[in-house]
This record gives sequence, C-alpha cells and structure tokens, in this order.
Amino acid sequence: MYVCICNGHSDRDIKKVAQSGLRTARDVYAQLGKPARCGRCLQMAEKLVQEVHESTSQSTVDTRV
Ligand code: FES
Repeated sequence: MYVCICNGHSDRDIKKVAQSGLRTARDVYAQLGKPARCGRCLQMAEKLVQEVHESTSQSTVDTRV
C-alpha cells in the first residue's frame, strides 16, 4: 500500500528501512532518497515506524528469570 503519494513510498519500504534502526519518518524518507514534501503522510509513516520498533523491542525482551 502506498503511504506517501508524493514520493511513492510504500508501507513495505518504510518498514524495511525502519528495521535498520531509524526512528522517525523523516529519517526513513531521507534514507529512501526522497524527503517528505507535502507532509500529509507523515502521521501514518510515524505510526508504521513506531510499530516496527515496538515489535522489535518485544521480540528482544529476555523472559528468563
Ligand atoms: S504524501 Fe508523502 S510527502 Fe506528500
């Protein structure tokens, strides 16, 4: 699904780059080589980035006691 119409960034593109450790949508867009333009997509993109880091941090929690 396209999240950013101006740049053609998809949810997959955003999640893939966020997994490399970037924590903001603007940083992810810069890494993709096309920075935010109109900004309408940023709220959705931030949510996706947040989801990536939430799922990553949950999977690395040490459950040993
Ligand atoms: S829709 Fe992403 S910058 Fe415009």
